[in-house]
Amino acid sequence: MPDGKSTPARAGTTLLEAARRAKVHIRTRCAGKAACLMCKVCIDPDAQTGLQPMNANERNKLGGLQEQGYRLACQAKANGQAPVIVTVPEDPLKSAVRKLLDQQQEEDW
Ligand code: FES
Repeated sequence: MPDGKSTPARAGTTLLEAARRAKVHIRTRCAGKAACLMCKVCIDPDAQTGLQPMNANERNKLGGLQEQGYRLACQAKANGQAPVIVTVPEDPLKSAVRKLLDQQQEEDW
């Protein structure tokens, strides 16, 4: 989400690997070492059963964000037992540009 793309993923496949296979861009800076936190994605609470439990590193990095449904795409692994619905947050730069355009459009009216 939000593009509605999907891909099959074997148990042990990270969400980052699955996203790349589905040609969904997820920002990273640390090459999947759980250091940059740029790969945060939001998981549908009803679809958490399709993921393996968080490892200690991911849990420590996410802190309170895990209660809001966030996982690190480079660390979260499919368990192969249920589908997972992943929402990739909008790129912050795109978001800022979109807000400015929306503001400008409102002012023009
Ligand atoms: S890619 Fe950097 S934390 Fe996941």
